Amino acid sequence: STSDIQAFALFAEFVAKEAGETIRRAIVMEKSFDLKSSVVDLVTETDKAVETFIINSLKERYPDHQFIGEESVAGGLKVSLTDAPTWIIDPIDGTTNFVHTFPYVAVSIGLSINKELVAGIIYHVMADEMYTAVVGQGAFCNGLPIKVTHATTLQGSLVITEVGAARDPLRMDCFYKNFKAVLSTNAHGIRALGSAALNLCMVAKGAGDINYEYGIHCWDVAAGSIIVREAGGYVCDPTGGDFDQMARRVVAGATKEITKELCGILSHPDLERD
Ligand code: IPD
Repeated sequence: STSDIQAFALFAEFVAKEAGETIRRAIVMEKSFDLKSSVVDLVTETDKAVETFIINSLKERYPDHQFIGEESVAGGLKVSLTDAPTWIIDPIDGTTNFVHTFPYVAVSIGLSINKELVAGIIYHVMADEMYTAVVGQGAFCNGLPIKVTHATTLQGSLVITEVGAARDPLRMDCFYKNFKAVLSTNAHGIRALGSAALNLCMVAKGAGDINYEYGIHCWDVAAGSIIVREAGGYVCDPTGGDFDQMARRVVAGATKEITKELCGILSHPDLERD
């Protein structure tokens, strides 16, 4: 029920805030990192420690819930989304930022039930902003309602995307092609700040009109996609079809119109599903 989900979300908010405190202490210290899928895909001890903390905290409270965590998957665990309540966790979204002390890092926690996202919690650590949404209940930042903009065209809009963690030629070609296509609409600008989760929060709060990215994973966008929808935005697959959180790609816009316009000009690279 909605009240159960609200209780789950409230607890996750508390856990995200605690996790954020750990990240805030660690970001100003010396950091070392290991590599994952590529030479620009980074992980630190803090990512792992924070993920363990989040999963253990939720598990203790909800022993029958399931978990998908970025670093657990990197450690070899398979992504498996069932109908059971499943927490989808990115302990530090924006690890590259964290490593470089760029203050755009987030804790992202989504909750899926019956394979539908029902709650999203994103903590913008260095700004101390807690973004939350429960299905049907609207989206909030630090408890105050947030809304997307009214933008219906790319012309004059602010677009947010990311380079991502792949550098292979086919993926890069697609990236450049899409970047050009967006600029040729006379969008006011493109931003790429390094956290997929926070990019979605920016669209949700009306600080930017649309976000797209290829190569993301479910933990990058689970929480953010519901926050955008609950803020009145339109989230779909870049082909224009239904958003699929396992498909590694997303478009999230302020309105259906601007979102469909962007879908119409994007080229799609091949991606292996989560
Ligand atoms: C990354 C960030 C980045 C996006 C990458 C993600 P991580 O997440 O969200 O903005 O471009 O695709 O992997 O690895 O820092 O949790």
